[in-house]
Amino acid sequence: MSDRSGTFADDPFKGRWPTSHERKSGLPWDASYHDGPAPWDIGQPQPAVVRLASEGGFAGAVIDVGCGTGENALHVASLGLPVLGVDVAETALAIAREKARGRAKDRGIEIEFAAADAFQLESLERTFQTVLDCGLFHTFDGEERTRYVASLASVTEHNGTLYVLCFSDGGPDTGPHPVSQEELRAAFNPSNGWDVVAIEPDRLQTRYHDRGAPAWFATIKRT
Ligand SMILES: C[S@@+](CC[C@H](N)C(=O)[O-])C[C@H]1O[C@@H](n2cnc3c(N)ncnc32)[C@H](O)[C@@H]1O
Repeated sequence: MSDRSGTFADDPFKGRWPTSHERKSGLPWDASYHDGPAPWDIGQPQPAVVRLASEGGFAGAVIDVGCGTGENALHVASLGLPVLGVDVAETALAIAREKARGRAKDRGIEIEFAAADAFQLESLERTFQTVLDCGLFHTFDGEERTRYVASLASVTEHNGTLYVLCFSDGGPDTGPHPVSQEELRAAFNPSNGWDVVAIEPDRLQTRYHDRGAPAWFATIKRT
């Protein structure tokens, strides 16, 4: 369902179906990166990702799905792990590649950034031991979540680990896409090949929340 007819050149969605977020905003994700940093683009890795990395949470080949301008992916790569960051926003990928050029040269890190649709990850024909979703899951509606979770399963090694950092419905000043624990558990469950190991309260930093917005940090195993 992700292929559309017509020419790609003048299609801001490059042949894929616009996501629910894009339909609501009327703009492709790429537009978020045109006029300065996007609200979530804090110019450094999310503290929750840095903490997880320092605790040894990342292992093997890593994919960052919806990587944006690459701060989280670059941080994980700095640990010495091979990382692939994917996104549909070409402008974000160009910024990420530019950052990587500087840092890879200095520190010998192994990182790639590629255009890929989170609903079609099987087209990468690769699998990963660790999968990171920082701020993507929460942008999808119910129907999209089902397709996205199946797509994630196609690239996650059995016994591999998926981390989802998403806005939560807990407390005041939630982000624009609050997600409940129940929604996470409904999306990832034993019947579709996942085991939710933990869902911890956390914070997701944005350019508009002084102390970050309430978030869930979910650790989910591929069975
Ligand atoms: C809220 S931003 C988070 C970006 C990044 N993870 C960060 O923490 O800065 C969501 C990202 O997902 C990307 N995205 C949205 N829909 C996507 C899809 N179907 N496939 C791949 N990336 C997608 C957007 O372009 C955007 O960069």
